[in-house]
Amino acid sequence: MNEQTKTDRMSFFSVSFDLVVLGKELPYELYVNSSTLKDRERFVRIHAQGNPLYLEELKSFQQKYHQLYVLEEQRDSYLRSLIDVKGLPDFKKAEVIKDSAIVYLNKLFDTEKVFSTEILNDVISGCRDSVESMVDVIQDYDIGEVQKMIADLSFHDFYTYDHSINVSMYCISLFKALNPKATKEDLVMAGLGGLLHDLGKIQIPTQILNSADGLSDEEFNTIKKHPGFGKELIESGHVQMPGINFDVIKRVVYEHHENYNGTGYPNKVKGDDIHLMARICAIADFFDAITTKRSYHEALTVEDALSIMERSVGRKIDPKLFEIFKSNVNNVVLKGKSNKELPDSFDPCMPHKVLPLETVRVKKMDHELFKKEENYGKVKTDKKKVA
Ligand SMILES: [Fe+2]
Ligand SMILES: [Fe+2]
Repeated sequence: MNEQTKTDRMSFFSVSFDLVVLGKELPYELYVNSSTLKDRERFVRIHAQGNPLYLEELKSFQQKYHQLYVLEEQRDSYLRSLIDVKGLPDFKKAEVIKDSAIVYLNKLFDTEKVFSTEILNDVISGCRDSVESMVDVIQDYDIGEVQKMIADLSFHDFYTYDHSINVSMYCISLFKALNPKATKEDLVMAGLGGLLHDLGKIQIPTQILNSADGLSDEEFNTIKKHPGFGKELIESGHVQMPGINFDVIKRVVYEHHENYNGTGYPNKVKGDDIHLMARICAIADFFDAITTKRSYHEALTVEDALSIMERSVGRKIDPKLFEIFKSNVNNVVLKGKSNKELPDSFDPCMPHKVLPLETVRVKKMDHELFKKEENYGKVKTDKKKVA
């Protein structure tokens, strides 16, 4: 992970030599640490913003200096420039973008912090920048490719960070599969909804979030408050930024634990009354929770995960969306429905030592809602349609 370095005056983050855009105006300044003392960093600018940097110059930097740095306040410009770095594999770009997203999520989940409107808007704006860059990299990826990329990306100590980023990536990919002509703005909305879906968890004590020893009813009920907490944060922070409809983000945050059959929480909303983006997020949330290894339970293979999710179709998850999701996972031998299932009460955000799989005894009818038509090409909002 790019290390974030703080001085009294300015913050910098380190960047690799191979992640600097060459041959065009550099949209950020480059610094080096000229101090040899570990605790006394002294940053010196070696390349001005707006001047092109060429390979020869970069090589000479590489011979002289150990590490390059960019100002934290220019992280957004740095992220945007990654897409122009020639010959850089998508995986490496995604790794840097993920690191940046983690920096912002870390600020969000900083328990010491009291959220002023300004801080919340700033941090969410950083999250938006990371999602925008991620959209540039993965917008043509199918879900299978996204899953492989996620499996290869490094993961971190705090599960919620990795999980939020993974969900964001699946949301982008599923929304694109649903609507191949989606605008970048729509994809960013889908990705930002995914990245922020568990925002309300910042108000849940970490020991409850990470408890592997089972939760008391009271703790379980506390976790269940996170959709409401998240919604309140967005409302009270008056979060707004150009190009993002926070009414939609708010609904993802508030409705991602609603089940398709109306057995979810907080409001037992059912079917298409759950916002499309929240139904997309629910599938991404479910899939990531059971395919990602957590410290206390093993991950299912993609094949097993899909066949177990298939059992929840029409109950927990939207049938039509799941069909699209499933058909977008390539190179996987689909097993059909498993003889195991997860109960409707299974909660992707609950810590489990062992996934609470149950053997299916009664043959269930396919849900009637499966046959219902819907226009999946639009993101519906309360006030206006985002085409
Ligand atoms: Fe959640
Ligand atoms: Fe989640």
